[in-house]
Amino acid sequence: MALGVDLDVNKVKAINAGRSYILDIKEEEVRPLVKKGFLKATDDYSKLRDVDAIIICVPTPLRKTKDPDMSFIVSAAEAIAKNLRKGQVIVLESTTYPGTTEEVILPILEKTGLKVGRDFNLGFSPERIDPGNPTYMTHNIPKVVSGQTKACVDNIKLLYSQIIGKIIPASSVKVAEMVKLLENTFRAVNIGLVNEMALMCDDLKIDVWEVIEVAKSKPFGFMPFYPGPGLGGHCIPIDPLYLAWKARVYGFEARFIDLASQINSDMPDYVADRTARALNRSGKAVNGSKILIIGIAYKRDVTDTRESPAFEVFHKLKERGAGISYHDPFVPTIKLNGQVLKSVKLTAAALKDKDCVLILTDHSNIDYQFIVENSKFIFDTRNALRHIYTNRDKIERL
Ligand SMILES: NC(=O)c1ccc[n+]([C@@H]2O[C@H](COP(=O)([O-])OP(=O)(O)OC[C@H]3O[C@@H](n4cnc5c(N)ncnc54)[C@H](O)[C@@H]3O)[C@@H](O)[C@H]2O)c1
Repeated sequence: MALGVDLDVNKVKAINAGRSYILDIKEEEVRPLVKKGFLKATDDYSKLRDVDAIIICVPTPLRKTKDPDMSFIVSAAEAIAKNLRKGQVIVLESTTYPGTTEEVILPILEKTGLKVGRDFNLGFSPERIDPGNPTYMTHNIPKVVSGQTKACVDNIKLLYSQIIGKIIPASSVKVAEMVKLLENTFRAVNIGLVNEMALMCDDLKIDVWEVIEVAKSKPFGFMPFYPGPGLGGHCIPIDPLYLAWKARVYGFEARFIDLASQINSDMPDYVADRTARALNRSGKAVNGSKILIIGIAYKRDVTDTRESPAFEVFHKLKERGAGISYHDPFVPTIKLNGQVLKSVKLTAAALKDKDCVLILTDHSNIDYQFIVENSKFIFDTRNALRHIYTNRDKIERL
């Protein structure tokens, strides 16, 4: 039996009613599990006394100062400690800086008088899920595991091998914590590099998308990354900064991370500028123009808007006096400065009325041909219109 503990009572209620609140997980998968009593949710931590294994996957955001906010991990560990019993396995899956499991969680759990390796098992196993990816899901993404002692690793391996095909043990907890940060830093740095290439190509009047397309014919030593309006989501913009923070504690300056973070976080500004330049070419000022944003979610085919660069682009253009609306089939409403905005319907009239249609997320269930046929001008930051061969004169790409 699996028990989910969450402080959000709405999520608890949804699960117990057999409903899924995660797009990738279908209701038909959740309902029978709940019905048969295999899956339950609660906000009551005392129920943890009854379970054999506890997986911690609470948020790890940044504070306003860009330092790690460990409060969720600390409060979860404290609540677990109150209910800890001999024989339990505790695994941290939240992405965090190397040392968290040993320096933050272990002391909280050992304060109970129980000892790791002897009385309970503790380790770290990074969450590697890729939301919206239909090919790689929990069961077929290799699982990196680690533990404080040999017994801990063995028990954690046993736990995950029940449901995951390939288990990769790391020799220490810190290695496993660092693995996740290397993976996400690799993405952030490469996206930063390709965003810089896009800016360069704009100046050099070279099509960056074609450059990537042709470069990717190389069968070794190259992996394509694509430019865009900036980084979003709960992981890639944040995780490298966890690592940079920890490195700074040791007097080490993580230059690649800082540079990539700077380039990526400047992208929304650049997109707003390019939109203004394009409007200007057709004799329009941003002030008073009507812009329709396509895609508010941070990436294709997800409902998640956390850290989405679309919000910053929205604000930058609004600051300059543009009237902005949005369309996102995955995000029916958004809240901006206390105001609720609704995703507008993609009708010919709505498109014809706009001075610019700005594609920020390339969801796959949008009729791009219809957009091109009915819009005056489109700025495409995702190359979503690559398969549309008519009306190319109306389209500008990042
Ligand atoms: N979502 C992903 O695709 C993904 C991928 C890789 C890694 N991660 C990592 O996993 C962690 C969680 O991310 P997420 O996207 O699932 O976050 P989320 O915000 O969607 O979910 C976290 C849940 O934890 C609950 N919570 C907060 N404090 C709690 C507490 N003390 N006790 C019990 N529940 C508590 C929240 O109510 C929320 O429902 C983060 O560290 C993230 O970096 C997420």
